[in-house]
Amino acid sequence: MNTYISTNSEQYFAFNIWDIESAKAVMDAAAQWKKNLILQTSTKAFQQMDKEEMRFFVANYSGNTGIRAYLHLDHCKKMNLIQEAARCKWDSVMIDASELPLEENIRLTNEVCDAMKEYEIPVEAEIGQISGAEEDVCVKEAGVARFEDVCTFVKRTNADMLAVAVGTAHGIYQGAPKLHYDLLERIMRFTHIPLVIHGGTGLNDETFRKLLSYKNVKKINISTDVKLAYRSGIYESIRKGELEETRFDPLKVTGEIHDSICKMAKEKLALLCGNKNSGEKVEK
Ligand code: 13P
Repeated sequence: MNTYISTNSEQYFAFNIWDIESAKAVMDAAAQWKKNLILQTSTKAFQQMDKEEMRFFVANYSGNTGIRAYLHLDHCKKMNLIQEAARCKWDSVMIDASELPLEENIRLTNEVCDAMKEYEIPVEAEIGQISGAEEDVCVKEAGVARFEDVCTFVKRTNADMLAVAVGTAHGIYQGAPKLHYDLLERIMRFTHIPLVIHGGTGLNDETFRKLLSYKNVKKINISTDVKLAYRSGIYESIRKGELEETRFDPLKVTGEIHDSICKMAKEKLALLCGNKNSGEKVEK
């Protein structure tokens, strides 16, 4: 298996993108820090996009800049879409059967792992429901996995990465999130399986640093922040009068959106460089 899962110590931010523009904005940020990254697509975005065009764009961009960008299918519940992502050369997939009873989650996860063997791509699975709303997935209670369930799941599935509910949530936090580092540490004493942290939006830098200090934490997901940055870009255009009828220039508006997403992604990726001054470019 030759993908990000096989790199020993590298850790990744995974940004949810939905089209070439959003992909380009986060990739520009990664290129400035010379950091590899994961671009993930929700099932809805995956279904809507031109997969061939996206795959080509990402490969071409990687070739030109030397950064590696991996495509990942996020929170998927349908085998046919997982199969399609594999056929479209996505680099990894997620089966999210976390709302099902443990035995069903194990069975479905193994079914996906078996199906993905042919494509040699890693499978992310989820245990304990991560709360919040992620497109069609909506969980109200703050999710925290049971340690015993995690152990059973790891022993009985062939998942390559595990998203564990440790107190983070998708979307905007209502109060300060309470992360269960004790659970994370217990899990890491039990297994070396690469761990995925969902619900990255709204976590502060200190929390990110703490999470990144665990070498088993391989991937941290950011979705809502990408959408909020897109929205901020539009507002910035409005503030500058770029949406006025007489001054409307689509290039200026898309430029604001690009810069806003790129800035947000740079701030996150700076944490991987251990660089406090995230506003400064390493190079053009
Ligand atoms: P946020 O929307 O909270 O950043 O969560 C992203 C995520 O975990 C996607 O799977």
